[in-house]
Amino acid sequence: MTNDSNTKPDGMTRLESILYPIFGRPTGLLGRLGGRMMAGGKTDTIERVVELLSIRPTDHVLEVGFGPGDGIQIASTVASEGFVAGVDYSRPMVEMAHDRNAAAIETGSVELQYGAAADLPYGDDRFDRAFSINSMQLWPDACAGLEEMRRVLKPGEQLRSRLLRMLTNRVTNW
Ligand SMILES: C[S@@+](CC[C@H](N)C(=O)[O-])C[C@H]1O[C@@H](n2cnc3c(N)ncnc32)[C@H](O)[C@@H]1O
Repeated sequence: MTNDSNTKPDGMTRLESILYPIFGRPTGLLGRLGGRMMAGGKTDTIERVVELLSIRPTDHVLEVGFGPGDGIQIASTVASEGFVAGVDYSRPMVEMAHDRNAAAIETGSVELQYGAAADLPYGDDRFDRAFSINSMQLWPDACAGLEEMRRVLKPGEQLRSRLLRMLTNRVTNW
């Protein structure tokens, strides 16, 4: 069961705290606006992460922190005979990504759920690939989220993350 308390990471600056409900974990009207602003804005990054993952057509893929749903869209095009699941801790983002991936959700090839990285609603060894873009730095316990992503991945399979520090523009890949 996802616990809605203690959702912010520690050590945010004042400005990051202001931006958090708009872009970090979008909530309310401003969060919807933030989602609109993020939509379509990171296609190059997402394509690069998907390329690094070497997703096969039949793979089952998980994205954590999908925001407006661009990564889900791109991954589901590559995993054309597989399955793409997404978990995000923002109800407005789940709604927006749902609308933007409605056709694939209708056919059952995409599934989006509200939830936290630290408590993924999937069983062990469920996925072939997992990724997260510009989200992990926002998790209150990144280690717990990573451990969850490892748990739901089949043994020996791939996990990738790309982090763009909110305001410093510093990028980390691994
Ligand atoms: C900056 S947005 C990035 C969205 C998208 N990946 C992109 O690059 O456009 C961060 C996303 O991570 C989600 N998020 C924040 N904390 C989370 C958590 N603890 N578990 C799952 N998702 C989380 C937010 O709701 C938001 O949709």
